[in-house]
Amino acid sequence: MMKANHVSISAVAGWVPNDVLTNYDLSKIVDTSDEWITTRTGIKERRILKDPKLATSDMAVGAINKLLSKTGVDPNEIDLIICATVTPDMLFPSTACLIANKVGAKNAFGFDLSAACSGFLFALDCGSKYISSGIYNKVIVVGADKMSSIIDYSDRQTCVLFGDGAGAVLLEPSDQPGIQDSVLKIDGSGGDYLKMVAGGSLNPASIETIKNKQHYAYQDGKTVFKFAVTKMADVSEEIMKRNHLCGEDVDWLVPHQANLRIIDATAKRMQIDSSKVMINIQKYGNTTAATIPLCLADWENKLKNGDNLILASFGGGFTWGAMYLTWRK
Ligand code: COA
Repeated sequence: MMKANHVSISAVAGWVPNDVLTNYDLSKIVDTSDEWITTRTGIKERRILKDPKLATSDMAVGAINKLLSKTGVDPNEIDLIICATVTPDMLFPSTACLIANKVGAKNAFGFDLSAACSGFLFALDCGSKYISSGIYNKVIVVGADKMSSIIDYSDRQTCVLFGDGAGAVLLEPSDQPGIQDSVLKIDGSGGDYLKMVAGGSLNPASIETIKNKQHYAYQDGKTVFKFAVTKMADVSEEIMKRNHLCGEDVDWLVPHQANLRIIDATAKRMQIDSSKVMINIQKYGNTTAATIPLCLADWENKLKNGDNLILASFGGGFTWGAMYLTWRK
């Protein structure tokens, strides 16, 4: 029997493309305004990966290379790469394979994980188990999405919400508890409200699927909003209760960045002061699997050893969850 280890996030890095798409830019493409987008979502601008030769794996590689250079980890030491994404470069090979090849992780095992906006959280939980079980020592979990590749820029309800980006963390064994607990959920009966129906085995690409715009993300925003606002708060409350935490015990809430109103409602239910909520939605919009690691990367300098974090997400599937972790450095 192998020894069970504590697991912590030992480093984090984010990568976003340079090109900025502002609310004003969008108002020239669809019937919308900076005022509408800001008040309904909190988003001011998002990043777009414009170079047609670049894809999700390249953004993930950008984040991972930063992670490796700041930690001095040799790519050959990486045991496992889990890539959370709904915009893989292609259906196969997996994006994890492409990433491992590009970063020179010659000894790594890896796979993609599909859970939409909860992808990073699910992958983080999964990756941590490989370390707590004593199997591996260095696991990279990367959330990366090139949402601009599946967005219909004539659908004003959806196109204003999303952006491109990637964020990665290194997981390692630690002396003290880092990742403490997680509550993860799926409910496939919500699948119809947020989906991309073509390009898979049910609706392979055809002239029809292209004509019907089925290679784009479709969202029933109102229904998704209702579920997200309830479920993200429910699960955050559940994880706090079962770990005997009150709002004051939590140093940081790290919520998935889909809509500022969903984030505010979650923080309110958890009785967490807004000064302790990581929010960067105004800069990046919803980058799907990348939102949580991009928050951690933006706040890294403020995080102290022993800080208690609650990570929370909601996404297509439906998928949702919360994780309780203590920052170690
Ligand atoms: N600009 C201007 N008006 C817009 C608009 C836009 N970009 N998008 C929609 N509208 C209009 C609608 O057509 C509607 O007009 P109507 O009343 O004449 O029909 C009006 O604004 C209100 O639309 P509504 O859908 O009620 O807005 P909302 O307050 O629900 O906000 C979303 C829409 C998409 C921002 C919101 O539903 C949302 O954030 N949903 C969840 C998104 C999410 O979290 N997704 C990811 C989960 S991971």
